[in-house]
Amino acid sequence: DHTHPPEETYLCMSRGEFTHGGSDWFEPGPGGSFYNSPGIMHAMRSGAEPLLAFWLLLAE
Ligand SMILES: [Fe+2]
Repeated sequence: DHTHPPEETYLCMSRGEFTHGGSDWFEPGPGGSFYNSPGIMHAMRSGAEPLLAFWLLLAE
């Protein structure tokens, strides 16, 4: 689990699971994307396969 001031967007290139803001774990899947608002608690985990994702932190 981690948090940071910059907002963040993920673009997933593989399977893998994420949680944010106290949500259940979810899997966007290859090509899936999601957004983390500033300061939100979030985490990621792989399964049997490696997790590959691009992400962008946007600081002011
Ligand atoms: Fe993050």
